[in-house]
Amino acid sequence: MDNMNNNLPERDGFASKFGIIAAAAGSAIGLGNIWKFPYITGIYGGAAFIIVYLACIAIIGTPVMLSEFTIGRRAQKNAIGSFKKLSPNTPWFITGWMGFLAAFSILSFYGVVAGWTLDYIVKSVMNTFAGSDADAIAGIFGGLISQTWTPIFWQVVFMALTAGVVLGGIKDGIEKYTKILMPMLLVIIIILDIRAVTLPGAGAGVAFLFKPNWDLITGEAILSALGHAFFSLSLGMGTMITYGSYIGKKENLGEVALQVTIADTLIALLAGLAMFPAVFAYGIEPAAGPGLVFITLPNVFQQMPGGYIFQIMFFTLLAVAALTSSVSILEVVVAYFHEEKNISRKSAVITATVAITILGMAASLSMGPWSNVLIPLPGFGSVGIFDWLDLFSANYLLPLGGLFISLFVGWAMDPDDLYDEVSNSGDLKVPYLAGFKIATKFIAPIGIAIVFLNNFGIFG
Ligand code: TRP
Repeated sequence: MDNMNNNLPERDGFASKFGIIAAAAGSAIGLGNIWKFPYITGIYGGAAFIIVYLACIAIIGTPVMLSEFTIGRRAQKNAIGSFKKLSPNTPWFITGWMGFLAAFSILSFYGVVAGWTLDYIVKSVMNTFAGSDADAIAGIFGGLISQTWTPIFWQVVFMALTAGVVLGGIKDGIEKYTKILMPMLLVIIIILDIRAVTLPGAGAGVAFLFKPNWDLITGEAILSALGHAFFSLSLGMGTMITYGSYIGKKENLGEVALQVTIADTLIALLAGLAMFPAVFAYGIEPAAGPGLVFITLPNVFQQMPGGYIFQIMFFTLLAVAALTSSVSILEVVVAYFHEEKNISRKSAVITATVAITILGMAASLSMGPWSNVLIPLPGFGSVGIFDWLDLFSANYLLPLGGLFISLFVGWAMDPDDLYDEVSNSGDLKVPYLAGFKIATKFIAPIGIAIVFLNNFGIFG
């Protein structure tokens, strides 16, 4: 196999069309869709929040994704190097630096949650939840995350897996797994949906998802919807710039951006549909927070023919989905060290993984022994380490990164380069070009700025 070690031209790339979509979708689809989307939807009250989220995806997310692909494929570089190459001697590369910071904070707590899913695979195999009611299942989750060593052990295992895949290179590492496993995850979620909506008492959950209550939509809710749109689509931090640089010159970037966005959004909505009917059927608190998926679904699996097997498969696939995402986060850091600092890929992977894992341990401890350590975060009061890393990256760094990325494509990038890249040097018709330009020049940046300022009470 011609992998990156021997006769590959300068940069490793994706082998097939489906491989690219699978890898970019694999990055986008992860804990964000199945763990985070349902629980923040629960916190901010359901349907109205979902509508705001969908608007953010459509109006801001899609153009930013296409912007990232365009920058990366044009420059053929990592997130920081891309800005330096396309706009030398300007401060734009700071956008790449912010992404670097975001990658660190996100992957640190992401590894912790992914570690919980590994622990849940074992719990599922051992049938730990058998015969437990909803309160007992909540207790099992609380017991896990508040311990000192067990969650850290699984976090370390997960981070080692992530490092292993990134060391394998792009074609042999990321692409191979994503192609088969993502479609399987989709099938299991659909099976869960069918079970969830047919549970006795499911109606209240369906109403929660489809009947908007606009009174709940505050500035903070809107900023969280926007932040989550970036988080879920893997935007604002250079992941899609880095992946864009691996996409072949013949692919239609606009089409890929649209397909990835649709796949990601569909999985999130289907995950929400599997969760809330069950939340109401079992009397779980919709605003239960980060434990929502881990508490709700074991209840559902118990009431399902074949639930034992499905539960094992579900948490395994969730861990894999988390892995294809974590790999894309680590890749941002590694590609930078490797290409800009001339460090070997191997040393880059090891250094970055160790540093991120240590920060993640602090996040893990903040769920238990360090839960009284609170750090202020403007706009969100004082929060624990885990929440701080999550809220700071998703609600500050990613939207700001997205703001600069869209401004860069809208105002700084040479319009001929832009046309050349999205149209594959004129080979493709790009009827959306004018709309894309307006979106990157005005709509996305102004939208992000308004949401941001609104949360800080600028508009009263
Ligand atoms: N999108 C992934 C998820 O939903 C997480 C992720 C991967 C990410 N790469 C990213 C988030 C880059 C922000 C930026 O789980």
